[in-house]
Amino acid sequence: MSAVDPTFDLDGQPVALQPGDTILSAAARAGLDIPHLCWSEEVSGSASCRLCTVLAEGRPVAACVTPAVAGQKVECRTPSLATQRLRLLQMLFVEGNHFCPGCEKSGNCLLQVQAERAGMTDLNFEVLNPERPVDASHPDVLFEPNRCILCQLCVRASDEIDGKRVFAIGGHGIATRLLIDSPSGRLGDSALSVDDRAAHICPVGALLPKRVGFAVPIGQRRFDTEDTRG
Ligand code: SF4
Ligand code: FES
Repeated sequence: MSAVDPTFDLDGQPVALQPGDTILSAAARAGLDIPHLCWSEEVSGSASCRLCTVLAEGRPVAACVTPAVAGQKVECRTPSLATQRLRLLQMLFVEGNHFCPGCEKSGNCLLQVQAERAGMTDLNFEVLNPERPVDASHPDVLFEPNRCILCQLCVRASDEIDGKRVFAIGGHGIATRLLIDSPSGRLGDSALSVDDRAAHICPVGALLPKRVGFAVPIGQRRFDTEDTRG
């Protein structure tokens, strides 16, 4: 950050902003964490998870799609936002089927670490246990819809990076699900390749390349070194 860079205030810290920045992208570049699930700097924003909600001059906004404004006061770490984030995470856990100890993504999963960071120790809501058949039809990529949080990262990666549009979101309410563009609706009949970015961008264990699970030993996974205990 140079002395002339415009800044905004995030929880009392000055954050330099560049043209085109959102609140979240500027904070991420500065090494400041705003909790998020559906954001990646690789694709456009979708504001689908709302975990990144902050107060910009007291107004709740999704930090991943809200332009950063010089001089603005942004609050991320307030007690009410912390409670709101915890409830959002609990809702995501009860509306799917998440069994972290047996999941290949454990230790590398953004949902798991956000729940740990939020201090989640129970589910708070009734568990829904939806029936969602696993799609193992693709030779190289597994689709495990029980873990899908509908973040749309694979949708945007397939469209914006791979140029294929293999995925879309369809349905309403609890029946909302990830759709696959193929004659059978199954991944094996789609144009997805394991080399596509969409096959690797999933923040949870819903889309996983096959035959590489548990390759990284416990202790060396992405979030293993993070102490999330409050
Ligand atoms: S499969 Fe993964 S990347 Fe795609 S919408 Fe579901 S959680 Fe997001
Ligand atoms: S990260 Fe902003 S809404 Fe999901």
